[in-house]
Amino acid sequence: MAYAYLFKYIIIGDTGVGKSCLLLQFTDKRFQPVHDLTIGVEFGARMITIDGKQIKLQIWDTAGQESFRSITRSYYRGAAGALLVYDITRRDTFNHLTTWLEDARQHSNSNMVIMLIGNKSDLESRREVKKEEGEAFAREHGLIFMETSAKTASNVEESDSGSVWCGLGA
Ligand code: GTP
Ligand code: MG
Repeated sequence: MAYAYLFKYIIIGDTGVGKSCLLLQFTDKRFQPVHDLTIGVEFGARMITIDGKQIKLQIWDTAGQESFRSITRSYYRGAAGALLVYDITRRDTFNHLTTWLEDARQHSNSNMVIMLIGNKSDLESRREVKKEEGEAFAREHGLIFMETSAKTASNVEESDSGSVWCGLGA
């Protein structure tokens, strides 16, 4: 299909936070209950329409495991935006955000927009990181912030689609 713009995005964050599930929900509108560990990098795409213009989003889903970190670093180049994801039920994934941010800033274009995502918002009873903490981290580091659920699809559309991304990448 013809498109007016092509934007590349990258999804980063610790293993198991739900990066692949967020992508699957965005591209296929389904949820994968099993953790299929991403090896290296995977790729997804979807068309969105903003102001009547067709925009193709090319999304790179990276592996969170430490051993893949150097591969991930090579995918930042040319990305208009990044989703930096943590799991609201695992504080360690929130604690590692600073390291991810350093990596992202060092290896990307200086104008890459980073969006902080607190995923698994459906698991309220197991929450370890308050929403306010995510908001504060985002404010301190100049990031956009949103909590999502790849399971219920809550906020998944907003977190990936034009409203947030395209004005920034254009
Ligand atoms: P790596 O590929 O190893 O970096 O992990 P990942 O970040 O891609 O994690 P993945 O998407 O594979 O999800 C890990 C596990 O969390 C899976 O069992 C998912 O079903 C589960 N999961 C992901 N998102 C959600 C969510 O929003 N809610 C709930 N309840 N579970 C989720
Ligand atoms: Mg994955």
